[in-house]
Amino acid sequence: MNIYTFKNEADFNATGASLIASLLHTKPRAVLGLATGSTPVGIYGRLIEMYQQGLVSFAKASSYNLDEYVGLPEGHSESYRTFMNEKLFNHIDIQLENTHVPNGNAADLEEECVKYDAMLEQNGPVDLQILGIGHNGHIGFNEPDDSLDGGTHVAELQEKTRTANARFFPSLDDVPKHAITMGVGSILKAKQILLLVRGEDKAEIVKRALKGPITTQCPASLLQCHPNVVVLLDQGAGRLLG
Ligand code: GLP
Repeated sequence: MNIYTFKNEADFNATGASLIASLLHTKPRAVLGLATGSTPVGIYGRLIEMYQQGLVSFAKASSYNLDEYVGLPEGHSESYRTFMNEKLFNHIDIQLENTHVPNGNAADLEEECVKYDAMLEQNGPVDLQILGIGHNGHIGFNEPDDSLDGGTHVAELQEKTRTANARFFPSLDDVPKHAITMGVGSILKAKQILLLVRGEDKAEIVKRALKGPITTQCPASLLQCHPNVVVLLDQGAGRLLG
């Protein structure tokens, strides 16, 4: 595991964006595993700038997002499909049909999960998986539990997660209670994982995840088992690592 700590946001974003751009240079048909949340937004912004400057192209790439809320109407401002379109896809040359986000409005959610895993199996493995981390150690929407699902599944969101994400909705009641998420098995199949964490409020969970015991009670701790993880932290998030 290679852990890098950054003093300023611009360097954090430039490093994350360069990693993705380098992959696309060596492998234009790369399969990207993408994440939402506030942390990757600056990296997506930097990638858009690089695309505009002719420094990177996504024309042959494809992408699979980690997760999506269940039940938000199509086009809802907080759906992860809308987020990805607005923060990245609409501004680069990726073919929209090559971008994949689980459909949280599928009539049969179980079937949607099976279909998503089948696509990942057929078109994967993911070359580079971007991840954030929740305050409780979740990755994607894999919440701490006695056991975890390997494949894509419908997850019930913990109160802590709903409360953390309530900042994006008019009220806590508006935050969906369920989401479709790739499972930890699918996430760990990626050839390389790029974990992004910012903020003092994440320092404790970063320490538990990266240096604590490997346990399903902290899903991000399973990343310690992966052979190729790059972690980008700001000083706040890295402050307890020593
Ligand atoms: C959500 C997403 C996660 C993300 C997490 C952290 O819960 N499902 O994939 O990693 O938020 O978000 P942020 O980067 O805003 O802290």
